[in-house]
Amino acid sequence: MSHRIAAKITGVAGYVPPKVMTNADLEKIVETSDEWIRTRTGIRERHVAAKGTATSHMATEATKALLAETKTDPAEIDLIVLATVTPDMFFPATACLVQERIGAKKAWGFDLSAACSGFAYALTVGAQFVSAGTHRKVLVIGSDTMTSVLDYTDRATCVLFGDGAGAVLLEAAGSSEGILDFAHDVDGSGGAFLYMPGGGSLHPSSQETVQKRMHYVHQEGSQVFKYAVRRMSEMASHLLNKNGFTKDDLKLLVPHQANLRIIRATQERLGLDDSKVVANIDRYGNTTAGTIPLGLRDAVEQGRVHKGDLVLIVTVGAGYTTGGVLLRWAY
Ligand code: UT7
Repeated sequence: MSHRIAAKITGVAGYVPPKVMTNADLEKIVETSDEWIRTRTGIRERHVAAKGTATSHMATEATKALLAETKTDPAEIDLIVLATVTPDMFFPATACLVQERIGAKKAWGFDLSAACSGFAYALTVGAQFVSAGTHRKVLVIGSDTMTSVLDYTDRATCVLFGDGAGAVLLEAAGSSEGILDFAHDVDGSGGAFLYMPGGGSLHPSSQETVQKRMHYVHQEGSQVFKYAVRRMSEMASHLLNKNGFTKDDLKLLVPHQANLRIIRATQERLGLDDSKVVANIDRYGNTTAGTIPLGLRDAVEQGRVHKGDLVLIVTVGAGYTTGGVLLRWAY
C-alpha cells in the first residue's frame, strides 16, 4: 500500500470508571456463576459507569490523559474521530461534546459506528487525513457505555460487557513506521445475530419498544463466536501475508476483547504464544470500541511494545464488521 505520508500513533491513553462489578456481584442479579463466566468468557470483573456518566465523559477523561501524556495543546487538534455505538444522544455527535470539553477549538469531528470494530475503523479513517497531508494532529477515540444498553435479566449478554474508553493521537510518520496497512470488511448478513433494535427510525421509542425490551443488546452468542474466531484469524493472516511478514515478525497481536476463548482460538490458529497476545478481558469485559485502545495502553504501560515493533490489531463486531490494522510502533 502506498501512502503519500504514513500516520503514526504518538500516544495512547485510556479511562475506565472507578466502580467495579465482579462476577460475584452479577450472581446476585441473574442466575449465573463466577465459574461459568470465568470458564466461558475469561471475564472476572468489569468497570461500570455511575449514573450520569456517559460515553462523552469517559472519552473526555481518556483524551485529557492523552493530551497530558503527549504534551499536546488541545488547540492543535485538527480532527476528532470517535467510535461508539452508545453515544450520549443521537445528536449532537459525541465527538462534538468532547471537542468542547477538551477545548479543541479548531477541530472538526464526527462519530463512527462499527460496534466492536469501531476503533479499528476510526483509526484507519483518521489516518487518511494525516496521509492526505491536510491534518497534522488527529484524535481517534473509542468509547462505549455498554451498561446503558444491557438487559440485566438476560444472563447470556449482561455478563459480557463493561464500560471504558481509550484514545490515540495520530501524526505524520516516516515511511517505515506507523500504520503500514489496513483491511476492513462488512458482512451485513450478520446483522441478525447482534443488534439493538429499539429507538432508531425503524422502531422509534414507545411504550411498546420498552415493554418488548428492544432498547437492549440482543445476541446469538454461538453464531457470533464462530464468525469471530474464523474472521479474526483470517484477517490477521491476510495482513501479515500481504505485507510479507510471518508470525515470527509479529511482536504483539492486539485483538478485540469479546471472549478469552475467541482470543485463544485466534492465536492458536496463528501459532502465537501468550507473550505475543494482549488479553485484558479479565479486568474490563468487552468494552466494545474501548477494547483496542485499552489493550494498547496496557501493552505500553507493561513495557510489552517498543519503537520498531510490529503490532497487529484485529477486530470483529456487530454488522458483521471486521477490521485489521498493521503498524510499526513508533515510540
Ligand atoms: O464483541 C462483539 C462480538 N461478540 C462476541 O464475540 C461474543 C461471542 N459469543 C460468545 O462469547 C459466547 O457465545 C457466549 C459467552 C455469549 C456464550 O458462550 P457459549 O459457550 O456459546 O454458550 P451458549 O450460548 O451455547 O450457552 C451454553 C449454556 C446454555 O444453557 P443450556 O441451554 O446448555 O442449558 C445457556 O443458557 O450456558 C447457559 N448460559 C449461562 N449460564 C450461566 C448462558 N449464559 C450464561 C450465564 N451463566 N451468564
